[in-house]
Amino acid sequence: MARRAKSREQDKATDAVSIAHLDRLAGPAPVLGIDHLHAGYGRMEVVRDLSLRVAKGKSLCLVGPNGAGKSTVLNALYGFARIFSGTITLAGRDITKLEPSDKLKVARLGYVLQKDSVFPDMTVEENLWMGGYLLERASLAKEAAERVFEHYPKLQARRREKARVLSGGERRLLEISRALVMDPEMLLIDEPSIGLEPRAIDMIFDTLRELRDGRGKTLLLVEQNARKGLSFADIGYVLVGGRLVKAGTGQELLDDPDIGRLFLGG
Ligand SMILES: Nc1ncnc2c1ncn2[C@@H]1O[C@H](COP(=O)(O)OP(=O)(O)OP(=O)(O)O)[C@@H](O)[C@H]1O
Ligand SMILES: [Mg+2]
Repeated sequence: MARRAKSREQDKATDAVSIAHLDRLAGPAPVLGIDHLHAGYGRMEVVRDLSLRVAKGKSLCLVGPNGAGKSTVLNALYGFARIFSGTITLAGRDITKLEPSDKLKVARLGYVLQKDSVFPDMTVEENLWMGGYLLERASLAKEAAERVFEHYPKLQARRREKARVLSGGERRLLEISRALVMDPEMLLIDEPSIGLEPRAIDMIFDTLRELRDGRGKTLLLVEQNARKGLSFADIGYVLVGGRLVKAGTGQELLDDPDIGRLFLGG
């Protein structure tokens, strides 16, 4: 009897992250699918047996403690971490083994890193041009950058200033803008709110909302600020020790007492 109860408990735990559950959360025909991914660095496996699905124009937020492997998931997707096994499919195409430059150029996947990647001694516009470094000609990168400036007049107004004088929020906006120069369909964004004060965080999340709801971009984000990330995202995944331990709608996770205790401060 006790054994049966225990096995039911285990079934429930497994079911919480079963592929069928992830499929239900994402809805039909997800644009990004990860299946049984094992990834890490050198010989060290960090991410274990991760599957993930997200539909086009939707957002998924990964939350979890420091060192859980959240950034490694994004690195593996982009080609910056080693993939031991598993597959990644984007828009119907197997991109598991694609080089990072082809991820950006061919698979139209953009990546905004967790750590500050603004070139402080370059101007705002020079930083933006860098986002088009894979294009055949500098003039094409400049044209693409102009299309991005049209969306962000705040950056446009400061285009000739050195990036180092921007506020934290403006720097984050510049990094997102730079990733948009190649017009990606899907964006990976690691800790959009990192190091920002509340008003800047709101501005960055408004920017992400417009990308998702206004322009149909698919977003996969990692957020230390779990409350903010889960309030924003359609779907939330909780990663602990490299494994997916819980998945639900953003709201379900916000309402989950375990998540509240672990990540939301009560
Ligand atoms: N480039 C790397 N080379 C080797 N090990 C790495 C590298 N990047 C991360 N790691 C290791 O992988 C593990 C997971 O790190 P990761 O950065 O994915 O966690 P995280 O969940 O994003 O944490 P944080 O919330 O601190 O950003 C850690 O043990 C880390 O030391
Ligand atoms: Mg990280």
